[in-house]
Amino acid sequence: MHYQPIIDFIRSLYPGKETIPLHEPYFGGNEKKYVLDCIETNYVSSVGKYVDRFEEMIRDFTGAKYATATVNGTAALHIALKLAGVQPGDLVITQPLTFIATCNAITYCGAEPVFVDIDAETLGMSPDSLESWLEENVDMVDKGLEGLETLHSILSQPSQPFLSIHKATRRHISACVPMHTFGHPFKIDRIVDICNRYHIPVVEDAAESIGSYFKGQHTGTFGKLGILSFNGNKTITTGGGGMILTDDDELGPLAKHITTTAKKPHPWKFEHDMIGYNYRLPNINAALGCAQMEILPDILKNKRETARKYQEFFKKIDDIEFISEPSDSISNYWLNAILLKDYEERDQFLDYAYSQKVMCRPAWTLMNKLPMFKLCLNPRLTISEEISSKIINIPSSYNNKRY
Ligand SMILES: Cc1ncc(COP(=O)(O)O)c(C=O)c1O
Repeated sequence: MHYQPIIDFIRSLYPGKETIPLHEPYFGGNEKKYVLDCIETNYVSSVGKYVDRFEEMIRDFTGAKYATATVNGTAALHIALKLAGVQPGDLVITQPLTFIATCNAITYCGAEPVFVDIDAETLGMSPDSLESWLEENVDMVDKGLEGLETLHSILSQPSQPFLSIHKATRRHISACVPMHTFGHPFKIDRIVDICNRYHIPVVEDAAESIGSYFKGQHTGTFGKLGILSFNGNKTITTGGGGMILTDDDELGPLAKHITTTAKKPHPWKFEHDMIGYNYRLPNINAALGCAQMEILPDILKNKRETARKYQEFFKKIDDIEFISEPSDSISNYWLNAILLKDYEERDQFLDYAYSQKVMCRPAWTLMNKLPMFKLCLNPRLTISEEISSKIINIPSSYNNKRY
């Protein structure tokens, strides 16, 4: 295939740049002003007004009842999983096509991932794969049996009569972590319905999907808990940062408490009532976040316009399929993606794009292929294998060129 027209088109979207990054931050608002305010007032660290303001802006934007800012999305996931009740030795269901952070956070809890396949339309967890795996592999047991009663006591989870136990290993399946890949919403309503039937809490990895909606509701707000990331490569950034979202009146305040070293509020006493984490987002990062939230609607509009242009362009190119937002969804199009014919074509295209200084990249290596996770349960991952062999991300930054 002749790749030059594709490179030329990408260059026409981002004119005047020698190297075109995959995704760079855009600071078009009050970023400097707010960061300078932190420096001038000395409030750069764990105290200051911007964290509260940033959390409030995220609550307003997403509709979540509680939002707790953290140092990064991985820390947010770690704590969200703990709050969901994940304990050492448990199994946690996730998808193989995700960034390593999803599986790392599961491992930080002492649990182990189980991989179920993705859906070809959404690139997120397939409800059918999830349901059939649960049907074949799960025993619902009374919580009092098998010594499992203590599992949830640490975080005083509301009592639930049954737990899902993996038939072959007798391990508790204590959470499900689906992910909104590249910002495209997956069928979260069905995933939540299925998990509810099995009493498995959903922790929604919405790290990539701020500004993405499924059936009109913001991603990250369907599960028991959800998380966002504000890493430098995301739609908006705080340098590094994350957010825990929940509507749960017990878990919301607990998320704040546990990420701020579990210190009991007092003007001068240092008393801590449980093992906590120093995961609070510094004020100076939150200042950046407030400024970014102010321009988020413009960024989303701009990125969706770029996606529309890509979509139109790739209609004319044989053997390449542009990944469009799934049905019932509005996508932030964090990273635009295309499917090439096969992995040979994919690698040839990547080689050529790099030689032309246009930063494209393949999807992450599937989690079940990594040495740490290759022994985890991973039934029938046909769609994940197929898609990961031929998908690439193409430059998707905010486009400074006015439309
Ligand atoms: C799917 C997914 N989960 C979790 C994370 C972790 O976020 P962070 O890099 O902020 O720790 C990221 C992004 O980096 C991600 O893409």
